[in-house]
Amino acid sequence: ATQQDKGGSSATFVDGTVRVAAPAKVNLTLHVTGRRDDGYHLLHSLVVFAGLFDRVILEPADRLSLEVVGPNASALAGVPTDDNIVLRAAWALAAATGSRKGARITLHKMLPVAAGIGGGSTDAAAALHGLMRLWDVRLPTDRLLQLAGGLGADVPVCLRGRPTEMSGVGEILREPPPLPAAWLLLVNPGVPLSTPQVFKARSGDFGKDMPLSEAPRDAAALASALAVRRNDLTAAAISLVPEIGRVLATMAALPGCLLSRMSGSGATCWGLFTTEYECRAAARALRLESPGWWMEPAPLLGAFDPFELAEGQP
Ligand code: C5P
Repeated sequence: ATQQDKGGSSATFVDGTVRVAAPAKVNLTLHVTGRRDDGYHLLHSLVVFAGLFDRVILEPADRLSLEVVGPNASALAGVPTDDNIVLRAAWALAAATGSRKGARITLHKMLPVAAGIGGGSTDAAAALHGLMRLWDVRLPTDRLLQLAGGLGADVPVCLRGRPTEMSGVGEILREPPPLPAAWLLLVNPGVPLSTPQVFKARSGDFGKDMPLSEAPRDAAALASALAVRRNDLTAAAISLVPEIGRVLATMAALPGCLLSRMSGSGATCWGLFTTEYECRAAARALRLESPGWWMEPAPLLGAFDPFELAEGQP
């Protein structure tokens, strides 16, 4: 059943199964620049993706169904499967395209949930890519991004799936200067954090847009550029989950760690490394020091094909 389709994508199999990667979204910067009348916050963020992902498997079926499996599936135990963002994405796409086909969707949940690395958003974006292939339907890009934005503020950037300068509430997406090769150590203290609560706990003035003006020549130059930028949700997240402060301090002290920051509304933090070797060595040291924390080393991805990525290592 895993024989590859001749000439087609490596991710389409003879039995019609489609496999899509939903990689972790990482905010390298996140400036809160204002607040709209509807309560949503205006952001300016440099968003990248890490080579660590959930897998969305889609099989032809008459009806739509979703099953969540994998190491972080139990964290979704309280989420009713009929209200999962993946199913909402499927319903929205069916309505927009008029497709009457179904899909048996299996979500292999590797990424921690409610963790600031876009779990639900990246799953929804992967489901949209996969369903368009499974159902053989398309939407114009602007229509598709609009549909994605209706599902969640981070779904459009996840659909774009490459380093992106994001602004507005997530609907304005621009190409940033090219980023150098680098490795990220993702660390989560194991405490889920609700995004609306973190935004509510935020205080202080609004920041300003600070786009990268030029391409950093290497990971160290990227770290220098990021060091004068911020994640404006960090203090609010630490007020709710003090352990985030310990994660950031511990990571900053790891040999080879050029910079450590929080992603999104937390609690996942990242450390930036030049090489895979340094990143994995830091992960080993940290695992001994803090065995209770979730941690994964992963490369910073450039442009990627979510179908090809799904065929790689989990
Ligand atoms: O759109 P999404 O469901 O991901 O957002 C969750 C919540 O996070 C929103 O209801 C809002 O409270 C907050 N949020 C915000 N500004 C953003 C994105 C999210 O205030 N740009």
